[in-house]
Amino acid sequence: MKAGTVKVRRTTSVIAAALAFWAAAAAADNLVVQGKLRAIESCSACHQVMAAQPRPAPVFDPDENRSIQAPTFRRIASEYGQQPRLLRKLITNPRHPMREQQFLADDLRSIVAFIQSLAQNAPNASQRPVR
Ligand code: HEC
Repeated sequence: MKAGTVKVRRTTSVIAAALAFWAAAAAADNLVVQGKLRAIESCSACHQVMAAQPRPAPVFDPDENRSIQAPTFRRIASEYGQQPRLLRKLITNPRHPMREQQFLADDLRSIVAFIQSLAQNAPNASQRPVR
């Protein structure tokens, strides 16, 4: 084998690795974008999902006979952004008066990814221990 061939192969594998990395990053971004759309659809009636969205009215809880303000996504992200499994559970087994919703696995995954992406931008995210 000539030295030149080895060099071409090595360059090719570096490019392949870079492309794989880029593709993975693009897929992750895509998941976050999907999650944002799903969250706007499924959560924004009660939660402030985006900072620009006015805060929705508190939700009436018939069990406690009072209205409860749903936390903003920014707050949810800074509290649970590092705990995707707990976050998933809070979404699929919600506390009243949040309603239980059925999700496709991909939709739930994307919503959690979106909330995690907000945590990366949250002011106190880096101070929280990763659990
Ligand atoms: C019908 C209104 C409503 C909808 C729709 C809704 N939520 Fe909620 N959610 C609430 C309320 C109200 C609370 C606060 C419950 C409490 O504190 O008792 C809450 C709490 C939560 C919590 C827990 C916060 C905590 O600190 O315990 C998470 C996480 C959450 N919502 C995520 C979501 C996501 C994600 C969606 C969309 C898929 C969604 N919610 C849709 C009303 C709603």
